[in-house]
Amino acid sequence: MRTKYFYIHTFGCQMNVHDSEQVAEMLKARGYERAERADTSDVVIVNTCCVREKAEQKAFSMMGRLRRLKRDNPGLILCVVGCMAQQRGRDILKRVPCLDIVVGTHNLHRLPRMISEIERGRKGVTETGFHDSIASMDVVSLPVGRRVTAFVSIMQGCDNFCAYCIVPYVRGREMSRESTDIIKEIETLAVHGVKEVTLLGQNVNSYGKNLAGGQHFPALLERIGVIPGIERIRFTTSHPKDLSDDLIRCFTTIGTLCEHIHLPVQSGSDVILRRMKRGYAAGEYLEKVERLREVCPDISITSDIIVGFPGESDGEFQKTIDLMEKVRFDNTFSFVYSDRPGTAAEGYDKKVKRDVQIERLTVLQSLQARHTEEKNRKMQGAAAEILIEGFSKNDRTDLMGRTRTNTIVNVGGSRDLIGNLEMVKITETYMHSLRGELLAKKEALTC
Ligand code: SAH
Ligand code: SF4
Ligand code: F3S
Repeated sequence: MRTKYFYIHTFGCQMNVHDSEQVAEMLKARGYERAERADTSDVVIVNTCCVREKAEQKAFSMMGRLRRLKRDNPGLILCVVGCMAQQRGRDILKRVPCLDIVVGTHNLHRLPRMISEIERGRKGVTETGFHDSIASMDVVSLPVGRRVTAFVSIMQGCDNFCAYCIVPYVRGREMSRESTDIIKEIETLAVHGVKEVTLLGQNVNSYGKNLAGGQHFPALLERIGVIPGIERIRFTTSHPKDLSDDLIRCFTTIGTLCEHIHLPVQSGSDVILRRMKRGYAAGEYLEKVERLREVCPDISITSDIIVGFPGESDGEFQKTIDLMEKVRFDNTFSFVYSDRPGTAAEGYDKKVKRDVQIERLTVLQSLQARHTEEKNRKMQGAAAEILIEGFSKNDRTDLMGRTRTNTIVNVGGSRDLIGNLEMVKITETYMHSLRGELLAKKEALTC
């Protein structure tokens, strides 16, 4: 029988990237092979995001392109999965009738069977129910090629219901995975050559809330910290209101935990934070940053910020800028507020005009660019440990690695070094990356 190929395109966050890896794993187990292009595939899957309107527009424009592909190849099976599929369900089929399958976030494990049904002639299937457990959460996606980094999902969903956010509606209630399953998965990954794991959850700090036996995030980190072969641990995302002293201490007690935390602040104004239902004030956020830096002075702190939230005045926006000046984030992801259907903020008054939102975003991003550049410049001449992940994106003759603080470093060197922890000296600094040269083991020791 001819080999069948699938192509998967992912929009959205790291959780979606990981979900796509799990979908790929399930299809490979059914004999499909992964293709690099949609036009030579038998099955095309679009894994969607709906966190902002723009994310949805991108998915719809990709579906438009796929519609043309299907016109030329009517046997092609088109699937839309993930958060937007969860939110819109059958409505997507109405808007894009040539789709064969629409599957939401809790039913990804059903995709292979649904594809078989379509192959047998069934038309337009949708699956968007919520369940008490998510079967695909336990699918282990083994590293492909020489990959040494992997995502591991430790929980799904979110119970926070921040006023602007659609995630709790499309990912469902918060559910943690049993720690024994997580440990087993990481041990398997380590046996297959993975050196660095990134633990994923919408709010990893509340890990274990629904589990028996008092399981919590710092205890989970400690257990992962002693898994042979795992040399680096990262996690994302932390909610500031749940960032405990116990977790902060982990940065000094667990040698393999990298010195980086993504701690979304969203705004520097208490009025806006309250309207966002974030559960902390700007002062409390700053105290946590101070605690982190007391315990771990070189920690890299990154954040998410929304500008132009309903009711945000110039003065309130200025408070966000003031907070950024105080914290001096290593990097931020910043967004203009986007109305999401069904969220509390959709019904808020005093919506901020689009041109004001864009103006604020520009101001904020140019300040961040200055801060990031300053931080990177300080690395000039310094020695740093990097995990070599593969080839550089820009120049395939170079290698690419990351510092423990998550900055990209490009270096010259032999491909045999992929997967190694190496010491480098930083020779050039840019906005988004650094350039380094490998230090001989002896030089590294004297640095
Ligand atoms: N669970 C994570 C992030 C989830 S979404 C957390 O709690 O931080 C990623 C980011 O998208 C959010 O941190 C927020 O900055 C942004 N975001 C979410 N909803 C948004 C909306 N409606 N408009 C603009 N940005 C939004
Ligand atoms: Fe959305 Fe808030 Fe949950 Fe993050 S914590 S996913 S921003 S509701
Ligand atoms: Fe992620 Fe987008 Fe869903 S940010 S959780 S893919 S809505």
